[in-house]
Amino acid sequence: MGNVFSCRAAVWKHAKKADTPPYIIDVVQSVGITRVQITKNETSSKCGEMAVEEIAREKLTASADKPDGSEIGLSRSSQCPVHSHRSRSTHAVTTSVFENLTPSVKSWEEVPGPKPLPLLGNTWRFIPHIGGYSVEHVDKVCMSLRREYGKCVKIAGLLGRPDMLFVFDAGEVERVFRSEDAAPHRPSMPSLNYYKHTLRKDFFGAEKDCAGVIAVHGDSWSAFRTKVSRVALSAGAAAQYTEQVADVADCFIKRIQEIRDENLETPDDFLNEIHKWSLESLGLIALDTRLGCFQSHEGSDSQRLINAVHTFFLCVGELELRTPWWRIYPTAMFKRYVAALDTILSVTLSHVERALDKCDNSNKSLLQDLVSAAGTRVAAVTSLDMFLVGIDTTSNAVASTLYQLSSRPEVQERLYDEISNVLQGRQLKPGDVNQMPYLKACVKEVLRLYPVVIGNGRQLTKDTVICGYKIPKGTQVIFQHYVMGNSDEYFAEAQQFLPERWLQKSSYKHPFASLPFGFGRRMCLGRRFAELEMHIMICKIVQNFKMEYHHEPLDYHIHPMYTPNGPLKIKFIER
Ligand code: HEM
Repeated sequence: MGNVFSCRAAVWKHAKKADTPPYIIDVVQSVGITRVQITKNETSSKCGEMAVEEIAREKLTASADKPDGSEIGLSRSSQCPVHSHRSRSTHAVTTSVFENLTPSVKSWEEVPGPKPLPLLGNTWRFIPHIGGYSVEHVDKVCMSLRREYGKCVKIAGLLGRPDMLFVFDAGEVERVFRSEDAAPHRPSMPSLNYYKHTLRKDFFGAEKDCAGVIAVHGDSWSAFRTKVSRVALSAGAAAQYTEQVADVADCFIKRIQEIRDENLETPDDFLNEIHKWSLESLGLIALDTRLGCFQSHEGSDSQRLINAVHTFFLCVGELELRTPWWRIYPTAMFKRYVAALDTILSVTLSHVERALDKCDNSNKSLLQDLVSAAGTRVAAVTSLDMFLVGIDTTSNAVASTLYQLSSRPEVQERLYDEISNVLQGRQLKPGDVNQMPYLKACVKEVLRLYPVVIGNGRQLTKDTVICGYKIPKGTQVIFQHYVMGNSDEYFAEAQQFLPERWLQKSSYKHPFASLPFGFGRRMCLGRRFAELEMHIMICKIVQNFKMEYHHEPLDYHIHPMYTPNGPLKIKFIER
């Protein structure tokens, strides 16, 4: 059997940035794993990733007749390539190639997981009262899968959707993320694909590469994301909104004072008020507009937008995880879903049009920068995507943070001291939050224990070895951040709320165990905006109030984000 070699571009690029020669590449062959060492001299005459591939190929061919490959810088190893890759900071660069399986790489069929039934597959497990798996409690389902089957679990036979692989190993998450190709495919809602690319293709397909980033893949995603990333992720893109976002937070403080009852507690629908704050803040960022959400009433544009975003998220979980009957006929839930998306589209577009009418280039903003860099349609579709995913995520993260802080007076006091020391009685200005590490650590700790998105994933664009199994192209790999974030394997005293763990690198064991905003080319486009909004909001609340919680502890559930289940009756006492 001839030697097999293929160098993955992403791994080489990473290696080139991080390491210097000698490069060491493990090549998997039918006879075992061959380690190829490439020295600086050998690379100096050639350059680029192809050079390394060529050199390795030449060396392997030359070694075919020799009994001892080490003479020419080769060595045989039986070590599993997956585990040898763990040493992230060493010189060794390991490239895994699996055109031929070796005994150390197990097959897809061998991946452990719940057995699908004939005809019903595993979908029946999500049938209420029968199957035992609940969409609302996928967190608990994932915890029990980890306990029962180990670090890598196959969920096969889900009717109408590809097989899934749940990964609970941070090292493997890192390896898969780092070897992503140029257009990573995040398994995204087929129902939203259908909306963007079939039902409303007149709008989203009207211009080339103009369908946005959510539920868009391949070259079209890549072209759009490149235009938007340059603007949205540029230095200072978020910080320029500090004062305006702080104004919105001040309005929210007033709103809390207005809506508290005689016990100084917030009403049962406090989460809806937080949604309004989130929408108002995002309106500023995505549309240059104060939407007036705190004055909104049933039937107003802002309340329609809030309701529509909420309906969108509620339906999407159900449409995606249960049997997709909507593919055969438009179910009642699918109709609600489409109506919600139509509302989001029409309200967003009307605001974009208004905002663009007002655009006079006199002051810089994300919207204006996007219009100048990429045109009106890109700006409008970006706003729409931001509204789809930027409201519920941020508001549920804030709700969860307030709830967690309300039962921890000592954490509030430490935050208060930190904020007071930095601000010394003045208003917030750009850059202040960077002087508040404990504030940032508190938000990180909440998102570790209760990530609003409990698992993020990729649909494999090529066969890949994960946890020692060959996982076929097309599988949806879900990285289980909620389970890893709550595991003692990665965080000492994982169940304890200890923000200070984020202040020293040595006190957490793997940076990929908690990734609330994802990673790599497809990571959250709004991360900096979300963090700015959350930090400023928490900062203002802690400056103004002490928070307490005097009711039964709240369980968390997926609804549709991971969020406390029950009325958020927090007591806000003036300082
Ligand atoms: C606490 C708040 C938020 C959390 C936890 C969050 C989390 C995430 C996660 C996990 C992803 C997937 C990343 C990946 O696949 O690697 C994502 C994608 C995305 N997020 Fe966020 N997000 C938040 C707020 C926001 C906000 C406020 C915006 C808009 C201003 C936003 C815009 C986006 C967009 C556009 C994408 C898709 C990126 C792409 O596919 O290219 N997010 N977010």
